[in-house]
Amino acid sequence: MIPIIIDCDPGQDDAVALLLAFASPQELEVVGVTTVAGNVALELTAENARKICELAGRSDVKVFAGCPRPTVRPLRTAEHVHGKTGLDGADLPAPTMKLQDEHAVDFIIATLLGHEDGVTLCPTGPLTNIAVAMVKEPRILPKISGIVLMGGAIGAGNTTPAAEFNIHTDPHAAETVFTAGVKLTMLGLDVTHQALTTPERLAAIRAIGTPVAAAVAGMLAFSGKRNAERFGLAGAPLHDPCVIAYLLAPDLFAGREVHVAIETASELNMGRTVVDWWGSTDRPANATVIDRIDADGFFALLTERLARL
Ligand code: BDR
Ligand code: CA
Repeated sequence: MIPIIIDCDPGQDDAVALLLAFASPQELEVVGVTTVAGNVALELTAENARKICELAGRSDVKVFAGCPRPTVRPLRTAEHVHGKTGLDGADLPAPTMKLQDEHAVDFIIATLLGHEDGVTLCPTGPLTNIAVAMVKEPRILPKISGIVLMGGAIGAGNTTPAAEFNIHTDPHAAETVFTAGVKLTMLGLDVTHQALTTPERLAAIRAIGTPVAAAVAGMLAFSGKRNAERFGLAGAPLHDPCVIAYLLAPDLFAGREVHVAIETASELNMGRTVVDWWGSTDRPANATVIDRIDADGFFALLTERLARL
């Protein structure tokens, strides 16, 4: 049983990551869900996380709102992908469960300090909350069992030619996290662009026939439409659930331990994850960068787990 905190900005694919975790209580203990500004503003990510908890019948899960903007740069949200609500494509009722009063950063700190065996952090949005927690209370660092994050790319970006959305949104936070000396696993665009929501895979999810499955199929059809067209792929990349799937079934993935630096100076390359794939420098590895996925295995796992909710 792995205790995890999911730090997210739902976002349709963040929502599916949450559902995959909730569907896997034998492997994962979701200690809390923290939200950050990213795909949409903080008020919406905090509301959307609670909508998804309730959809999964998990109103017992504690949801905390964190930072309303990146540490240095202004927030640039992505309604053009995720819609006005961030969860367009599913018609979910307003949540009745309440948002926790405690700030997400304080919850992350208190949870890590209070946990004997460490907690794994699962960021699927900009790294603002995680970085601020590290700066506010460095004693958390040895308590972090690992950080498994969606973000970055070895190759092309999706927000600028150089950068992926989560890292581009708060590159300074990403730099703090990537230089913190904690065990990092990076699932970037190289791997998520192999995990495509093809019509057949979406149909298999829809065929489960539950309200959860209908919501997932609706959301992914919405957010996927623009991405599939834009990238000319057979389906849209399904980013954030890869983080949870990696914890559940690491054998579905493969990668390499390498050094990753974050660009925070050049506007042209802002937020680029500079991955030393070929060991061109003598900088020691600070991350496991995943570049391969068994996509059929991943969707089989996702579909089987969603059917449990
Ligand atoms: C990442 O950005 C967001 O749009 C998604 O939720 C995902 O976390 C992909 O670049
Ligand atoms: Ca996200």
